[in-house]
Amino acid sequence: MSQFDTLFDRKAGNARKWADSVLAKKFGLTPNAIPMDLADLDFPVAPPIHDAVMARAAVSDYSYTYIPDAFNETVIAWNARRFGLELEADWLKLSYGTVPTLHYIVQAFTAVGESVLINTPAYDPFAEAVEHNQRQLITSPLKLENDRYVFDFEDLADKMARPDVKVFILCSPQNPSGRVWTAEELEQVGDLCLQHHVLLVSDEIHRDIVYPGVHFTSIWQACPAIRDHSILCLSPNKAFNLGGLKTSYVVIPDAGIRDRLAQQFAANSITSPNSFAIPALIAAYTKCDAWLDEMVAYVVAA
Ligand SMILES: Cc1ncc(COP(=O)(O)O)c(C=O)c1O
Repeated sequence: MSQFDTLFDRKAGNARKWADSVLAKKFGLTPNAIPMDLADLDFPVAPPIHDAVMARAAVSDYSYTYIPDAFNETVIAWNARRFGLELEADWLKLSYGTVPTLHYIVQAFTAVGESVLINTPAYDPFAEAVEHNQRQLITSPLKLENDRYVFDFEDLADKMARPDVKVFILCSPQNPSGRVWTAEELEQVGDLCLQHHVLLVSDEIHRDIVYPGVHFTSIWQACPAIRDHSILCLSPNKAFNLGGLKTSYVVIPDAGIRDRLAQQFAANSITSPNSFAIPALIAAYTKCDAWLDEMVAYVVAA
């Protein structure tokens, strides 16, 4: 019997996905419907994460925190070990979730009335980050070819050539299609952004959950030249079910882009992390490789 066979009552943790009131309001569903909309795990967190949070809870101090060096070291090691990505500590910025971060990025790198490009179908908050900030949403629909979504490169090039389009938010792997983009596809996307001077924002938070036999490539590996014209959005939230801790990070090698976003973080008062966030992230990134591999294999086999 696998640890993932145990039934787990998500309602006990106030999981939004399983809340009858939310399901009724959002989808008109009756109580006890089985929700399939929200991308979180219906498994308990990995035991080392539970232990780290419990140990932190035992310390009777939930006041303001700071970002210890161990955060940078752990993030750098995880990215190198799992993805072959060599990051530097200076490039990392902790934030309060990828969706809020997309809002700050839109605020920082576009003016009201300018445009942000996304692919459709899209995870709803991509459009919301644009529209909540009174920017124009420009969409480039993915094409369905042989039951697989692919980029429409001609359309992407046309839209990026528009002078009002300043930012492209890429979802890689893509939610909702599940596509893990190939290195060739990503190279073309990167080249187009460079050619049209469009800032690339690559949301790669689903990269940890990729089926065996499929290789995830970061856009930085597929198109190294885009690195200094881009922002990577990463977090342990999808792989380890930590969305409620409201913690994520961005990686920005270019000092100018990084400083601009830092100003926007200051404008939104992004300061110390949640008391439980750093212990949970460190436990996830140092003690849970085997748990993650087992979880993905279990989901694939189901
Ligand atoms: C592509 C994508 N980005 C971001 C998020 C949410 O990230 P966070 O919880 O860190 O705001 C999700 C959640 O499903 C997602 O699918």
